[in-house]
Amino acid sequence: MLCGEMVATEEALLERFAPWAEEVRRLAEARDAVILAHNYQVPWIQDVAHFVGDSLELSRKAAETPAREIVFCGVHFMAETAAILCPDKRVLIPDLDAGCSLAATIDAESLRAWKAEHPGAVVVAYVNTTAEVKAESDICCTSSNAAAVVNSIPADREILFLPDQFLGAHVERVTGRKLHVWMGECHVHAGIGSQELQDLVRSEPDAELLIHPECGCATAALYLAGEGVLPADRTHIVSTGQMIRRGREEQAEGGRFIVATETGILHRLRKENPAAEFTAANEAAVCRYMKTITPAKLIRSLREGVFEVTVPEEVAVRARAAIRRMVEIG
Ligand code: 13P
Ligand code: SF4
Repeated sequence: MLCGEMVATEEALLERFAPWAEEVRRLAEARDAVILAHNYQVPWIQDVAHFVGDSLELSRKAAETPAREIVFCGVHFMAETAAILCPDKRVLIPDLDAGCSLAATIDAESLRAWKAEHPGAVVVAYVNTTAEVKAESDICCTSSNAAAVVNSIPADREILFLPDQFLGAHVERVTGRKLHVWMGECHVHAGIGSQELQDLVRSEPDAELLIHPECGCATAALYLAGEGVLPADRTHIVSTGQMIRRGREEQAEGGRFIVATETGILHRLRKENPAAEFTAANEAAVCRYMKTITPAKLIRSLREGVFEVTVPEEVAVRARAAIRRMVEIG
């Protein structure tokens, strides 16, 4: 494609974005709705949202918003978390099919069976779980506070950590605690391997490595950093929100970053840090669930008030206690 054609396409897109964004904001205001978007959402959705963030930041925003409605542009467990935290608000998701392959690796029945094998153990559930699983758990965590949550539990208590095996291995490493870890994984992050990281580091030797703890390569990356194959002082295992903050801190020096997570985050990283360069560790790391939320579906959600996410109160009351404990820890 010629450069001129590409610019024309971008201009045409921008021309379409402005009226769409205006309509979205007008409808949101009329409904008294706040639009929350996860860092993996498509660029238009991120750019129109009132707030963009990681799982923990979005839970916090949901809990404190004065708006009457929350339109959640993310996946279903995130909207459920908002509904649990805000029982007096209506929570909408533009597409109910926005699931999560990691959350689908464990259900409440399997968790009850696992608990029965370890009576008295503390159950730590990553937020990427259904409301029913959270209701069976003692405390939730996200990728940004998992180690702090585990450290808050007395050292003599047995811990069941679920459902992500790579995050579990990372938390064991950081806290020095031995956990019972559920062997679930996210199909997007499990697919980011250490070989592509090593190849990229060879071609960009000065880059910082930002690796999400759900990545299949996280353990190998730290091992390779210890062996001197990857740069130890520039290898960071971080949540999506921490990636954004790290980009901000380093951008003044025109930093270079290799980013190992879902590629949707590159939009925000590049927009907020124009002086820095960001390369995806794996261009194919795209979460189809996050991408089911489209601009057309967001408009429909706001026009028609669909699709409401609700959690039965008997489930919500127990799940809320686990989520609140997490939010208090930070
Ligand atoms: P963060 O909490 O880091 O945003 O991660 C959420 C998620 O779904 C990762 O795949
Ligand atoms: Fe779930 Fe993975 Fe998608 Fe995150 S990237 S929402 S963990 S399937």
